[in-house]
Amino acid sequence: MIDTATTRTAPVRTATRREYLMCPPDHFDVVYAINPWMDPAMPVDRGRATRQWAELRDAYRGLGHVVHLAEPVPGLVDMVFAANCALVVDSLVYGARFRHPERAPEAVAYRSWFAAAGLTGNRDAEYVNEGEGDFAVLRDFVLAGTGFRTEPEAHGEAQEFLGRPVVSLHLTDPRFYHLDTALFVLDEENLAYYPPAFSPGSRAVLARLFPEALIATRADALALGLNSVSDGANVVVAAAATELIAQLAANGYRPIPVDLCELARAGGGAKCCTLEIRR
Ligand code: ARG
Repeated sequence: MIDTATTRTAPVRTATRREYLMCPPDHFDVVYAINPWMDPAMPVDRGRATRQWAELRDAYRGLGHVVHLAEPVPGLVDMVFAANCALVVDSLVYGARFRHPERAPEAVAYRSWFAAAGLTGNRDAEYVNEGEGDFAVLRDFVLAGTGFRTEPEAHGEAQEFLGRPVVSLHLTDPRFYHLDTALFVLDEENLAYYPPAFSPGSRAVLARLFPEALIATRADALALGLNSVSDGANVVVAAAATELIAQLAANGYRPIPVDLCELARAGGGAKCCTLEIRR
């Protein structure tokens, strides 16, 4: 008898060169708690965070991607999480408006980088939204999270500004407070996600839109395995997300494990540290 599970060959995946914006964790710290991962009583090893972050940056460069760096600002301890500062599509910058006052100045700091980079199609958001933390871009539409940070009204605002359909999803588990902690885009039309992070209706929407999606285990989701960055073929993924890594490999992707455990103390992983610039 032929075992189809083992003889099936995985499809060939194609990488495309990406442009990313990152911010070195020079001032990284945990001094307030705005998500359940953060405990200000636990000291942070900034040297270790910096080494882990540098490994991530070098992994992107090693894959041939362009990595730009934003200037870290003293006192903005979460500024390393560049994904939250905007959503950039078709050279249009939908700027963040942070939920918590502690992070609000980050939006201003990043705005000057966009201007210097020639991205002048800017919109200062009227509604609270945390950029790519809560928006995921696919070919035909954009997925948007709400429940903890981004307001649902921001989904409509982004759709109107970007001219791309936006599909709203409801996050229900505080551990998965941003969409990018519960879901990541593998390629133009497929993704990986953790269903229990979503409301029943949103789960049904995801199942309908993505019947081929990779489904992560709770352990891998808690290892921030879904806070991954894919270029269509190579997937930079938390090293501790072992089952997800095996699933990726079995589906023709090339997992690139990175350990960002020191940054995880603020509730962020690889994707949080990475904003994609789509020109
Ligand atoms: N401490 C930050 C916050 O709670 C972490 C942000 C992580 N970024 C992300 N894209 N999930 O806002």
